[in-house]
Amino acid sequence: MNHNSASIDTEQNPLVRLTHVRRTYTAGEMDIEVLRDVNLTVAQGESIAIRGVSGSGKSTLLNIMGGIDCATSGQVEVCGWTLNGLSSKEFTRFRREKVGFIFQFYNLLPTLSALENVMVGPESAGFPQSKARARAEEYLEAVGLADKAWKFPEQLSGGEQQRIAIARALAKEPPLILADEPTGSLDEDTAAMVLQLLDRLKLEHRLTFIVVTHNPALSDHTDRSLFLHNGSLSELTPNRIAH
Ligand SMILES: Nc1ncnc2c1ncn2[C@@H]1O[C@H](COP(=O)(O)OP(=O)(O)O)[C@@H](O)[C@H]1O
Ligand SMILES: [Mg+2]
Repeated sequence: MNHNSASIDTEQNPLVRLTHVRRTYTAGEMDIEVLRDVNLTVAQGESIAIRGVSGSGKSTLLNIMGGIDCATSGQVEVCGWTLNGLSSKEFTRFRREKVGFIFQFYNLLPTLSALENVMVGPESAGFPQSKARARAEEYLEAVGLADKAWKFPEQLSGGEQQRIAIARALAKEPPLILADEPTGSLDEDTAAMVLQLLDRLKLEHRLTFIVVTHNPALSDHTDRSLFLHNGSLSELTPNRIAH
């Protein structure tokens, strides 16, 4: 058996382990329990779709895994870090080094070119500029936009902007990619293109990928689908049988 880093045992060494995660918000006198008891283990190289209706807590959950938000209680372990009780400085370091985020509304910087936007990913992870530039060129090519390197976001279509945002997340080569409704702003055909792109990149780069969505089509593209309902996750049937 091949014991490279890509064949780490899920039980021995999961990339993500959430144990009894709870998240409440206080609104006036009331406590709103958004996540009640979330348990999740994700192995390296696995792709997971988390579905659920709007307001079910999908973004909250993703943000907790990405060190943007904190659990009220429970254990959050991601990429070898225990995220409970980190300082804000440590949270920043964790996010920069470990996580590539893809958001619904791309979050590109309007004053930077496509290439410069992609460079933000590896630069934030601490790569020197020459390396960040090489990575950015490589991943712009991978998303099929090498010829748009010097365009600004407003000169690009929604699908192209999302592909730039994907390149930015991947160019860090982070252990974990988190995507929040990555096709939510795209028309059906463009969304399908972006999903095919993610499929290909996942295979080529062996990404660990967690995507939250209310789009059932998206979960056909992942190894596992989970459903967030009433503050906890349940497993849907596996989408694919491993070869
Ligand atoms: N900062 C906050 N303060 C209070 N309530 C919040 C906050 N963020 C999210 N919520 C509430 O938590 C619930 C889940 O939100 P969210 O995680 O954005 O759901 P989803 O991404 O599934 O649509 C919603 O009812 C939302 O109003
Ligand atoms: Mg959301």
